[in-house]
Amino acid sequence: MVAQVIDGKAFAAKVRAQVADQVAKLKEENGITPGLAVVLVGEDPASQVYVRSKGKMTVEVGMNSYEHKLDADTSEADLLALIEKLNNDPAVHGILVQLPLPKHLNEDLVINSIDPAKDVDGFHISNVGLLGTGQKSMVPCTPLGCLMMLRDHHGSLSGMDAVVIGRSNIVGKPMAQLLLGDSCTVTIAHSRTKDLPDVVRRADIVVAAVGRPEMVPGDWIKEGATVIDVGINRIERDGKTKLVGDVDYASAAERAGAITPVPGGVGPMTIACLLANTLTACCRSNG
Ligand code: GUN
Repeated sequence: MVAQVIDGKAFAAKVRAQVADQVAKLKEENGITPGLAVVLVGEDPASQVYVRSKGKMTVEVGMNSYEHKLDADTSEADLLALIEKLNNDPAVHGILVQLPLPKHLNEDLVINSIDPAKDVDGFHISNVGLLGTGQKSMVPCTPLGCLMMLRDHHGSLSGMDAVVIGRSNIVGKPMAQLLLGDSCTVTIAHSRTKDLPDVVRRADIVVAAVGRPEMVPGDWIKEGATVIDVGINRIERDGKTKLVGDVDYASAAERAGAITPVPGGVGPMTIACLLANTLTACCRSNG
């Protein structure tokens, strides 16, 4: 079988166009422009790239973008004071603090200081609890993007066997909650999982989110399964820097029914979902 390529880039462009339409309508009918504040502490190069890209796309869909770049040695008190200011700013509907934070800052404390209604990452403990109990919440952008692609490809996911490889708070755990919400039978696999190849071979849906280049070989993939590759890993090959996923794309594409490429799969969907979440936060705050 040769897998169908799930084009996250094209799907994300469609989502962003829909968001842009809604933003234009909000402006015209209600005089409201959604605003997203992104906070970056320090100079992590990958984070800088993501933040720049988020800011650019925010403006492209007609929203206001507020970027706050803080020095790597910013104190926790100063960061919390900025978040408090953004929480109370009516022009800011979404707040994103780019992770990872420098080591001296308590990530949990910082995330939980964001107003849950403005927590467009869906990382606040209130949103995690709401998602886990099937209530209306802010849903983390990367797993939401993965779910949208899976629903688009399959229609219903009900009864499918899904394996999520990776148990991070950002992707693995919320991804498993979302798949469970769509009535999949869900396994969360991780570094201590016994016989990972066997676990993956049983899955109709494989979501790989471990951050290890090409760690899932094609012969782990069940014939016809759908593979969602969340990994974005920079490697050196043949003297060139290359982006690869957590799945060995070439061999997996020979067995999968459908697969997301890296780049051009999950990555663009993450930012599109961030914009969709910001629009949702804005609409909820305005009744
Ligand atoms: N770092 C890597 N992914 C993310 C994300 O989705 N949100 C935030 N805030 N930081 C990240």
